[in-house]
Amino acid sequence: MIPEAFVRTTVEREGAAGEAWLAELPAIVDELVQRWNLEREGPWLHGQVGVIVPVRGSGERPAVLKVSFPHPGNVHEPDAFDAWDGRCAVELYERDDARYALLLERVHTTSLAEYSGDRAPIAGNLLRQLAIPAPNGLPRMSERAGEWAEQLRKDAAELDHPLPSAVVDAALGVVEDHCREQPETLIHGDFHALNILRADREPWLVVDPKGYVGDPAYDAAFFLRTRAYYLHLGGRALDDLLSTVETELHQFAEASGIEADHIRRWTHLIIVQSAFWARRHGFGRARTGDHLDELITLVDKIATTWTA
Ligand SMILES: Nc1ncnc2c1ncn2[C@@H]1O[C@H](COP(=O)(O)OP(=O)(O)O)[C@@H](O)[C@H]1O
Ligand SMILES: [Mg+2]
Repeated sequence: MIPEAFVRTTVEREGAAGEAWLAELPAIVDELVQRWNLEREGPWLHGQVGVIVPVRGSGERPAVLKVSFPHPGNVHEPDAFDAWDGRCAVELYERDDARYALLLERVHTTSLAEYSGDRAPIAGNLLRQLAIPAPNGLPRMSERAGEWAEQLRKDAAELDHPLPSAVVDAALGVVEDHCREQPETLIHGDFHALNILRADREPWLVVDPKGYVGDPAYDAAFFLRTRAYYLHLGGRALDDLLSTVETELHQFAEASGIEADHIRRWTHLIIVQSAFWARRHGFGRARTGDHLDELITLVDKIATTWTA
């Protein structure tokens, strides 16, 4: 039942704790199917951290049961869904926090990453509506500002990298100007095209929030950075890639109501963070090898170009 690729990545990432949880997973799903009166329907899907079991709930309502690996990063997902209450996000029907389990409205598995039209206006428009006052109890991104600044300084000093000091200073400037104090707004936290799914009651709905409090420009920046990776994977040459991201930044700004320059500064920060992070840890899809080197070159070039 459990998709093989999911077993592999979970064990690679979590080790023995992952194996123990995977062994328990079928029983966890059985118990929730019984408790919430569900009928199973079709094969399990998965993401990075969770399995998605298609089910039908009461009144034949199509739903999915999402059970995630018990990790602190997955604690606030139901709080974010709860706050949005189905507005621009899938609806939350049930939650079992101890099991890291959610029963969610089922939508289509087609994501915005497969859409051939302009994506940025769609994502920007969603973000504008998702940016509501944050509920209590979610982690504030502003609390991480000190740690971000310290890490940037440490990485710049310790790592072998070609980023000019002006590029690193610009990233530190973003932390000082925008990260130490941030709005009390609900942030998605993993806002990329694969987490924006096709639906029927609305054209697109988001899934898979982390649930933070902070500046929505973070989500905008996260979307654009991930977009740059996709364009690169799609074989787009650097100049063309940069001008596409530039165009999309403006489309995103217009649709979201966030100033383009503000999004640009946040994007600069997280691109520089990625350039350093990748040197220490690799990327999700490229831990080693030529592909990692290419992605590192890409983030270095974007960071440098944007500072200029
Ligand atoms: N509500 C849903 N309806 C239909 N498919 C879904 C739903 N939620 C997730 N999926 C599918 O499962 C995949 C992984 O779900 P996601 O919540 O993004 O998990 P992860 O946290 O592991 O990335 C999605 O990319 C999508 O294909
Ligand atoms: Mg996901």
